[in-house]
Amino acid sequence: MKNNEIYRAAEIIRKGGIVAFPTETVYGLGTDVFNPLAVARIFEVKRRPYFDPLIVHVANPADVEKLVKGIPSNAKKLTERFWPGPLTVVLLKEEAIPDIVTAGLPTVAIRMPNHSMALSLIKESQCPIAAPSANPFGYLSPTTAEHVREQLGDQVDLILDGGPCLVGIESTIISFIGEKPVLLRPGGVSLEEIESIIGKIKINPIEEDRVSAPGMLPRHYAPRTPIILNWSEKNLDIYKDKKIGLLAFQEPKNNIKFHSVEVLSKKGNMREAATNLFAAIRRLDAKNLDLILAEPISEIGLGRAIMDRLRRASER
Ligand code: TXA
Ligand code: MG
Repeated sequence: MKNNEIYRAAEIIRKGGIVAFPTETVYGLGTDVFNPLAVARIFEVKRRPYFDPLIVHVANPADVEKLVKGIPSNAKKLTERFWPGPLTVVLLKEEAIPDIVTAGLPTVAIRMPNHSMALSLIKESQCPIAAPSANPFGYLSPTTAEHVREQLGDQVDLILDGGPCLVGIESTIISFIGEKPVLLRPGGVSLEEIESIIGKIKINPIEEDRVSAPGMLPRHYAPRTPIILNWSEKNLDIYKDKKIGLLAFQEPKNNIKFHSVEVLSKKGNMREAATNLFAAIRRLDAKNLDLILAEPISEIGLGRAIMDRLRRASER
């Protein structure tokens, strides 16, 4: 049954359609990387600006060679260690990749996802799959097929359901274009893990470098309800007439009355917190709150990616 669905999905992609599919990070909305018209439809459906390039998904590390001009040894070390997995590398692209995929950049972002359905889909489609996250631009990324259905349901040709995403937060993006590798987006592989393999890398203050990280806009991943990160229990009075939700990392110790509370990980496990992040914000967002207070997390390991998403979600 599942396999039939994958064959159907692959056929849709081969014919120039667009398919939402699961990965270990978030659901993607994909199509044949070599079909510019199909890629254009993805931008339209997402209402995504054309200056924001897509990630190309491959099913095999060897497939990268045909897509890029060369693979620096540090990039190779990382892909050998973390693929399939939540790591995206930015390399100099081959001409064959249409400009619309890379927003006209001479570079391309590539990753091999760690999800059997995603890998089968790419293999059956017989082409690398260009895919952004399957959400309207600027909104929370989907971590279940249901999330995709709610937001883009009638606009995509098929949604493959692979259950909830196990990592739950997007891939870590590292650029190998400059002299030193640069972290463009913290994600599912922590900076510590990356640096344990290739040594210290540059950490891009993304807002200052829009050319190498287009689309990394300060406001992103945002729900309808305002999220506030800078708050303190002592000053909660200022919100006393408001309907407030709490996005807590661990089981909250205080007894302050919130209208609604989401706990990312009862035991304070960072991995579990990342997995639950987007779905928890969605549940709070559905409760018609006036605001969501989010508890800051220490920026160690996946905490860096979680805080990055929370900061962008709270940006107004
Ligand atoms: O985990 C993920 O990476 C998910 C799943 C579906 O694979 N994909 C994802 O795609 O998060 P998206 O489109 O939501 O975010 C990709 C980001 C873009 O915001 C863009 O800035 C960056 O990747 N990107 C893509 N190509 C790039 C390039 N050539 N140079 C620099 N950044 C690039
Ligand atoms: Mg996205």
